[in-house]
Amino acid sequence: MNPRGVFATVAASPTGSTAGTLAEEGRPAQAGAYAIAVRETWRPAEIATGAPSGAHREIIRYATLAPSSLNTQPWKFRLRSRELLIHPDFTRRLLLADPDDARLFIALGCAAENASIAARAFGLNGTVAYHPSGLGGLRVELSAAAHIEPSAVFHAIPRRHSGHGLYDGRMPSEREVDLLARSAADLGVHIVLVSTRFQIERIAELACAAYATQRADSALLEERKKWIRFSEREALRRRDGLFARCEGRPALPQWLGEGLFALSSGRYAHCARYAQQVRSSGGFAAFFGGRSDPRSWAAVGRACERFLLQATALNLRAAMVVEPLEVRAVRLELGALLHSRYQLPDALIRFGYGPPGTRSLRRPHEEVTI
Ligand SMILES: Cc1cc2nc3c(=O)[nH]c(=O)nc-3n(C[C@H](O)[C@H](O)[C@H](O)COP(=O)(O)O)c2cc1C
Repeated sequence: MNPRGVFATVAASPTGSTAGTLAEEGRPAQAGAYAIAVRETWRPAEIATGAPSGAHREIIRYATLAPSSLNTQPWKFRLRSRELLIHPDFTRRLLLADPDDARLFIALGCAAENASIAARAFGLNGTVAYHPSGLGGLRVELSAAAHIEPSAVFHAIPRRHSGHGLYDGRMPSEREVDLLARSAADLGVHIVLVSTRFQIERIAELACAAYATQRADSALLEERKKWIRFSEREALRRRDGLFARCEGRPALPQWLGEGLFALSSGRYAHCARYAQQVRSSGGFAAFFGGRSDPRSWAAVGRACERFLLQATALNLRAAMVVEPLEVRAVRLELGALLHSRYQLPDALIRFGYGPPGTRSLRRPHEEVTI
């Protein structure tokens, strides 16, 4: 089999280059309220915080640094003795774009993986289990562990961010692809990695077809618009949603952005820009959970987060690409193209090399804990 073609999961632990900070991302320090909020949101945790309550708070903060569709942050955290429960917050679901809550549970899986990695760095157990009773969700064990395990992926948590923009088209080396392929082994999720130019082009075509279909749907656009923060002020006030600058667009007054949104979204220029972005990727990774239920989606989320953190540790850019999964015909075609033993992919990540983007914000501890 072509080693740069299709990979299945293999058992290994993630490795790679270690930590960095916001300043190391090559951006000049910025002044202003948004830059201050970003620094506060993404500050690296100090492992030797000592008191367990300090550690628990940091574990929850690191969990919230996980990605979520349109930065909806659809989670609620509850700390109990020796465990952290991560519940779905269904008030933040995307009813039209994500009717079965697959994306919501993927985000919960990402948050649980961050919590698990952070717990182990604080000398706690960190085992993740699906927890269907009560409010549902996931459970992370916080009993004392035999040793502290600060890993490259722990240091990658405050550095990770979605690379929404243009990449430079370069493909990662075979070693990097191999580390990415191994990063999410042992979770029972089948991963197919694509890094040949021909397949990248084919996936880009499918993504663009799905993008055009979706942007022609006014109800879907209306739902999306509710989660776009067009102005810095709105981004700072809400601390959720997708801030325009994170997508490489200029900030506008919220009312103006909302007014222009429906007019511009389906336009040729937007589709062309999207096409250029997906084509600039150095590769794609598709994730197959094998079943259509919350447990399986959460496992996919955990695998995706490990992959994204490993990419960050390797100084690669990466981001989820959801459009080809939200149009069923395209999703089926994508599944057929990837020759997985499963029919339908649950998540797709593009990766490659590119400049850092504007960082997103998160809601504070008080708003996400119950
Ligand atoms: C299930 C899921 C689907 C996502 N879909 C997309 C997508 O289609 N395109 C994209 O650029 N980012 C996508 N993202 C990334 C989010 O937009 C991003 O996580 C969020 O805006 C917060 O930004 P951050 O990842 O930089 O912290 C997705 C994330 C998740 C978890």
